[in-house]
Amino acid sequence: MTAPPGTRLLGTDAAAIEAAAQCLAAGGLVAFPTETVYGLGADAADSRAVARLYEAKGRPAFNPLIAHVTDVGAARKLARFDADAGRLAEEFWPGPLTLVLPKAEGCPIAELATAGLDTVAVRVPRHAVAQNILAAFGKPIVAPSANRSGHVSPTQTAHVLADLRGRVDLIVDGGATPVGIESSIVACIGEPALLRPGGVPREAIERALGRPLAQPPRPVDATAGSAAPAAPGMLAAHYAPRTPLRLDAGGVAPGEALLAFGPRLAAGADRAARVLNLSPGGDLIEAAANLFSHLRSLDAAAAPCIAVMPVPHSGLGEAINDRLQRARRGATP
Ligand code: TXA
Ligand code: MG
Repeated sequence: MTAPPGTRLLGTDAAAIEAAAQCLAAGGLVAFPTETVYGLGADAADSRAVARLYEAKGRPAFNPLIAHVTDVGAARKLARFDADAGRLAEEFWPGPLTLVLPKAEGCPIAELATAGLDTVAVRVPRHAVAQNILAAFGKPIVAPSANRSGHVSPTQTAHVLADLRGRVDLIVDGGATPVGIESSIVACIGEPALLRPGGVPREAIERALGRPLAQPPRPVDATAGSAAPAAPGMLAAHYAPRTPLRLDAGGVAPGEALLAFGPRLAAGADRAARVLNLSPGGDLIEAAANLFSHLRSLDAAAAPCIAVMPVPHSGLGEAINDRLQRARRGATP
């Protein structure tokens, strides 16, 4: 793949990692793979770099960012952990879990990155490339998913280029991201609550806590025009392909695209404009890994509608169904 002017595309060798760290230190924006999706990284303490990041994404500034760090020791310099948070960090870090916690005294994260809140979202990614960049940079990196605001998250470098060509200084190309869906977000401010289902299934989180997760604050509908959502990141319309989605489709109308799941295709699949299967074997882990790239590919087919077969709600199915609902609401018919 050829990099466009203004965006350098590098591999994952030691020189690339060093270049990424230097770029971040100079206030640049670096897209890099995590185990969930590609992140668009900036120096968390550099408010000018963070402002550039919001600008590059076209993201409303009230939507705060996740600070990524190498380990729980580094996370404790940013945020206060209660017993539940400590247990979840021990169980799932490094990995696809983000904790929303009260900011620690002297937290170095730029106010702009936390949207002026007194809480901060922190995550220790498991992906070796993310870990190497964090270690080389030596400080927290804020990184939203490396897509234009409102688009589906990128699971490959090609997706990052499609959205952020010329808007990101450097892309570290580590191939497809293994989990394929964003981290689960749990707020540990009082009773732990699941703010966003994601790469760690609810069941696993509840097992580690020894009790059910609390209800999250009510999702806010982006189209309702509310300026400051009570629960940032719960904007109802998000992850939007341009093509309308029809969920839980039992059949396919001629000309529709089909996002399938499992071995038995919906009736009429042979008349579909294009068919992609999240997992022919019905495996939710494989389905999560394929979700965003299949949505992008089917969107490109320019069909009048994408029919989506039912996906079970258990395990990663909760996060997959959450993203499908948001994609449906966010589509611009
Ligand atoms: O897997 C992931 O989490 C990826 C990779 C790159 O780490 N990142 C990601 O970031 O998905 P982003 O910015 O696309 O989503 C982070 C979500 C946003 O919806 C934001 O509103 C929410 O986290 N968030 C951040 N700080 C928060 C806070 N203090 N309270 C509540 N929600 C917060
Ligand atoms: Mg995102």
